[in-house]
Order: sequence, then C-alpha cells, then structure tokens
Amino acid sequence: MESPLVTLISDGDMYLKCFYHYLKNSTNNQTMQEFADNLLPDILAKIGNGKSNLNVIGVGSGAGDIDLKILSALHHKYPEMTVDNEVIEPNPQQLRDYRDLVSQTPGLDYVRFIWNEMTADEFEEQWKEKKRTKKADLIHMFQMMYYVKDPEATVSFFQSLLNKNGRLLITLQSGNNDVAKMRDAFSNQLGTAEVNRSTDDIKRFLDSKGVRYQSHNLPHQVDITKCFIEGDEDGEMMIDFLTQVLHFSKTASPELKAKIMEFLRRQEFSVESNGKVLMNAKYEVIVLEQLT
Ligand SMILES: C[S@@+](CC[C@H](N)C(=O)[O-])C[C@H]1O[C@@H](n2cnc3c(N)ncnc32)[C@H](O)[C@@H]1O
Repeated sequence: MESPLVTLISDGDMYLKCFYHYLKNSTNNQTMQEFADNLLPDILAKIGNGKSNLNVIGVGSGAGDIDLKILSALHHKYPEMTVDNEVIEPNPQQLRDYRDLVSQTPGLDYVRFIWNEMTADEFEEQWKEKKRTKKADLIHMFQMMYYVKDPEATVSFFQSLLNKNGRLLITLQSGNNDVAKMRDAFSNQLGTAEVNRSTDDIKRFLDSKGVRYQSHNLPHQVDITKCFIEGDEDGEMMIDFLTQVLHFSKTASPELKAKIMEFLRRQEFSVESNGKVLMNAKYEVIVLEQLT
C-alpha cells in the first residue's frame, strides 16, 4: 500500500520550524563549533597557498550559522585574504535570515557575499549556461545532500570546480548513527527512503570510482524528552524532524507511532539523564580534494 505520509521538506515553513527546533534541542551547534575550532584549521591548511583572495561556495547554507563559523575559521587562518563567498540556498526565508545574520555580525568586511536563491541543480545549470570557469578553494555542503535528486552527479559537479589545493566538505548523518538506524528500520512505512541518506551512500559511490577522501565523525546528542508527551507541540516538531515526515503524529497510523516510540525508548538508542531522554546522533564530514 502506498504511504499516505508526506516528506517534511515539501513544506518549507514547517521544515524550518522543525530544523530550528532540532538545533535548539541538540548539541549540534556546539559540535560544529568544535569542528570549526579543532578540525577545520588542518583541513584548510593548504587552500590559501600563494593566494590573496579565496573563493568559497556554500551549498544549502540555511540561515548561515555554520557558514559564518567556517568563514571565521578561514579568516583566522588567513587574516590577510579577502573572500568571495557564493551562497546557494533555495529557501527564501533562510536566505533572508542569512542576510540578517550577516548585517548583524561585525567584522565581515573581508567577505563579499554573492547570493544565489536556487537549488544546487539550478546553480549547476546556470554555471554551465554562463560558461563560468572560476575555481573554488573551499566548497561546503552541510546537511543538504538529503535533498538533491542525484547526489553522485552533484558531488561530481562541485568537485570539478575545485582549485588545485581546494577542498570539498560534505556533511551528512553517519550511517552508523541511531537516527539513521531508526529511519532505515521504518523506511518503507515512512516513505522517506530518499531523504534517509547517510555518508555511507556517498562513500559507496566514491569508493566505486576510486575517489580518495578523508572523513571525521561529529557525534552529538538530541533531547527527545518531549517526544514522549502526547500532544506536545515541541515533541511533535522533533518527531517530524527525526522521521522527516510532515505532521507525523497526526498522519501516521497508531501502530507505526507506537513502533517508533518503542524504538526511541530502547536502551541502545537513548539514555535517560536528569529527567531527560537523550538520543545519540552522529554526523560525519567527508573531505574531498581536486580530482587528478
Ligand atoms: C538541514 S538544512 C542545513 C542548513 C545548514 N547547511 C546547516 O548545516 O545548518 C538543509 C538546507 O538545504 C537546503 N536545500 C534543500 N534542498 C536543496 C537543494 N536541492 N539544493 C541546495 N540546497 C537545498 C534547505 O533549504 C536547507 O536550508
């Protein structure tokens, strides 16, 4: 029987609400800050060799929080350099939030922002139509590869834009991660198989083509306490984001809801601490270089 459930990304406003809710109730921001402080400087070690200006492309940048952390790490590493920063983001509200964030953040005068309100595919089409040849020193795609039609083609296009010492960073949930395991276990019933991508899917095609890469794990915890309170609005937003189903609590069958709740409660997936139920989540960043 066809699933009556609708994917969360099909409703831009709800998607945003649920995503912000997830960010607020997880240690993701802290993990990303640690990533920017501790791992990124090494990843960026060579990209500025012999340059006075860096070209950066952010794909699926959202409201820009992660992008600004990356720009700040870049500036720290290369304080003399200016940056051309292309932002690719199809959601108009996200792009407005990003622009607001930029206008409220002092000290960004070394960056020239170029705004592209479009999907990664549309950007690629435009790039080819305009026969652009500019090369990029850093391209990052954080938590967006779930939503592209053909991830292999997208990676291949953006990797082809890299400069000699350039780096392409792709962050997705790790395949070895409890949220991915939950979506896997119920992917037929949730009908969201296409958004249940993990870094395993990316590595599979990179490995099959013999493309070299490095990877780093970014573990964080998600507070799912309110998911267990029937009718709680915050809990429902969290469940929507975890399952990637729009209005999961109102549209899923009682049997599926019960199974998901039972799954989330299992000891191997969540821990109870100080009256909170915490789930372990893990992102992974894949680092690619220019193809030779
Ligand atoms: C989970 S958010 C990640 C935002 C940000 N990169 C971060 O890590 O916080 C996913 C973002 O990808 C954007 N997105 C969805 N489909 C896209 C596509 N086909 N091309 C580019 N961006 C897309 C969404 O609008 C959303 O802002």
